[in-house]
Amino acid sequence: NSKTIAIAIDGPAAAGKSTVSKLVAKKLQFVYVDTGAMYRALTLTALEAGADLESENALLSLLQSIDIVLMQHEDGQKVFVNDKDVTEAIRTNEVTNHVSIAAKHALVREEMVKRQKKLAANNGIVMDGRDIGTRVLPDAEVKIFMVASVDERAERRYKENISKGYEADLEQLKEDIRLRDKLDSEREASPLVKAEDAVEIDTTALSIDGVVDKILAVVHEAIGR
Ligand code: CDP
Ligand code: CDP
Repeated sequence: NSKTIAIAIDGPAAAGKSTVSKLVAKKLQFVYVDTGAMYRALTLTALEAGADLESENALLSLLQSIDIVLMQHEDGQKVFVNDKDVTEAIRTNEVTNHVSIAAKHALVREEMVKRQKKLAANNGIVMDGRDIGTRVLPDAEVKIFMVASVDERAERRYKENISKGYEADLEQLKEDIRLRDKLDSEREASPLVKAEDAVEIDTTALSIDGVVDKILAVVHEAIGR
């Protein structure tokens, strides 16, 4: 049934996953789940609590003490930790530069995966992250692996920061992206890796609409099978 298919979208930082996933979900009237926002919400909570991000036990018990809620809105998504709106707070550089440490712990990931699987049950869903096709939704009908060059991805983040009125340093962004790619790809617990049956899309030279169209074509082919 095309109303309940799952679309798994993985790839490195700033490949365009969330922008494109939102548009694909809107087009198909599917639910969109941003799993990165969940790891960011935990990281923010840990930083605010002064918890040791290297401590698996500390992070796991923090996670077990919070509800992370993703709410869909006309103009995007809102993220809550318990009843607190953290939509903006999870996007700071401070959180961005610590999230891969929080996300490396196997037990933390296990709990996140459990919550994510629940969100996907009985829904047409588009979920983006690092381990969706390999771990969270291994039976997804459509799996996409989005990549783009480091230079292009840093450029995208740079433009994003400038347009929001933040300061940005292109070389620093490149370095941050390289480091996060490395941590995410080399960790032991469900590292960032392309699922065997994923379709790879290099978005370096593509527009947002160009990527959306490519994914919709893959979806239509999958539904037709
Ligand atoms: O949007 P951006 O690419 O900057 O990152 P994100 O999707 O918000 O994810 C932030 C971080 O969370 C990633 O760098 C990973 O360390 C972690 N993450 C993960 O480990 N597994 C996921 N399924 C999603 C995110
Ligand atoms: O979720 P992820 O970190 O993979 O990337 P994103 O936050 O969706 O996209 C990063 C930036 O790249 C956004 O500002 C998008 O507008 C932009 N983008 C682009 O310029 N061209 C694309 N083909 C895809 C995204």
